[in-house]
Amino acid sequence: MSNPVIDFLQTRRSTPISAITAPAPSQDELNQMLQIAIRVPDHGRLAPWRFIVYTGDARVEAGKLLADLLEKKQGPLDEARREQELKRFARAPLVIGVVFKPVEHERIPEWEQFLSAGAAAMNLCHAANALGYASNWITNWYSDDSDARSLLGLSEDERVAGFVHIGTCDKRAPERPRPEVEEVVTYYSAPTSKE
Ligand SMILES: Cc1cc2nc3c(=O)[nH]c(=O)nc-3n(C[C@H](O)[C@H](O)[C@H](O)COP(=O)(O)O)c2cc1C
Repeated sequence: MSNPVIDFLQTRRSTPISAITAPAPSQDELNQMLQIAIRVPDHGRLAPWRFIVYTGDARVEAGKLLADLLEKKQGPLDEARREQELKRFARAPLVIGVVFKPVEHERIPEWEQFLSAGAAAMNLCHAANALGYASNWITNWYSDDSDARSLLGLSEDERVAGFVHIGTCDKRAPERPRPEVEEVVTYYSAPTSKE
C-alpha cells in the first residue's frame, strides 16, 4: 500500500541553488517550517541552535559584506569572483542560517549538540520540500571563517550547521548516484576472543 511519507522520503533530493527561484514561502509557511525545524532530538533539551533568516535586500547586503571581506583578506577579486561573492545569499529568495549555539553542560558533549543542529537543518529541508519548495543545504567558505560568520550575524562561540537555500523550482532536480545500502550497512556480531 502506498504511504505518502515513505514516498516523500524515498524520493527527496536537493535542487541546485542556480535552479531555485522566486516565489519564496509565505510568512505563514516560513513560520511553519521553523516550527518543524526545531522539532528535533535534543539531549537535555538544551536547544543548542537558532536560526537567522535572510530575505529581501538583506541577502544582497550580506553578499556585499562577504565580497568586501574576501577582498580585504585576499586582495582585489577578479570580476567573476566578486560577482560570485555578491550573489552568495541572493540566488534563492530565502536563505535560513541554521546556527549551532553550544550550551555548556557537565554531561552533554558539544558534538551531540552539533548533531542536533544538523537534524534541525535536515528537518528544515524536509518541511520546505513537503510544502512544495526546493531546498539546498550548504556551508561554503564563509561558514569556516570567523570574520565572515560575524558579518552574517553569528557570535564568536557559534558555528554554522548550514545555510539552507529555499525557493521554487518547477522542474524536478536530477537524481544523483547514491551508495548501495549493502555497501554501508553491516549487522553487528560481537568479536570473538582470540585466547
Ligand atoms: C553540512 C553540509 C554542508 C554542505 N555544504 C555544501 C557546500 O558548501 N557546497 C555545495 O555545493 N554542497 C554542499 N553540501 C551538499 C549539498 O547539500 C548537496 O546538494 C546535497 O548533499 C545533495 O544531496 P541530496 O540530493 O540527497 O539532498 C553540503 C551538505 C551538507 C550536509
